[in-house]
Amino acid sequence: MTQDELKALVGQAALQYVTPGDIVGVGTGSTVNKFIDALASMKDQIPGAVSSSEASTLRLKALGIPVFEAQAVGELSVYIDGADEIDAAGHMVKGGGAALTREKIVAAQSRRFVCIADDSKLVKTLGAFPLPVEVIPMATARIVRQFAALGGTAQVRLKDGAPLVTDNGQHIIDVTGLQITDPLAFESSINQWPGVVTVGVFAHQKAAVCLLGTSEGVKTLTF
Ligand code: 5RP
Repeated sequence: MTQDELKALVGQAALQYVTPGDIVGVGTGSTVNKFIDALASMKDQIPGAVSSSEASTLRLKALGIPVFEAQAVGELSVYIDGADEIDAAGHMVKGGGAALTREKIVAAQSRRFVCIADDSKLVKTLGAFPLPVEVIPMATARIVRQFAALGGTAQVRLKDGAPLVTDNGQHIIDVTGLQITDPLAFESSINQWPGVVTVGVFAHQKAAVCLLGTSEGVKTLTF
């Protein structure tokens, strides 16, 4: 099976976690796009979605799924999103699509995080995927030096030759060379650095369930 087919498989499988009558939290990325496409088949059973990015909002609306502002609704029963890496405890690295801050906000508003991913995303230790960190631009140079002191190499993410600007008007740095052996402590620590908006480690908002696409079908991991 191709990676695209595995993404479609888990996107479809995630429908079982959507409760009819409930607003669903929706993440961002190519795997979530498959989920959004599948969700269209349930659009008459749900009031709509809370979205974690402008890109997902556009896709949801194009399929006729209403999108609510996060602050206009209460707690969500489920949040469905992809990951760049997930470990055996459900800790994740996210932000490959630059939507990490809103993803963490919607995840925090949800009772259960269901991660959908192909099996290339399952890792022993987080850190091989360049860690996305959303930063306020005036702090970038200092944050880059702070990561260097931890052994990491940080680069500003570019789009069309200029720093990528997130949905929140900020920049992203991607950090290589880290081995994140204690994701909870790492997330807490980096989030204290002035100018860090969000670090792409999701340990405090970890997955409760991961639907992993494998060549043998969907494997369900619970944490
Ligand atoms: C976006 C994300 C995505 O969930 C992550 O990058 C995985 O994306 P994909 O499903 O395209 O592999 O965190 O900010």
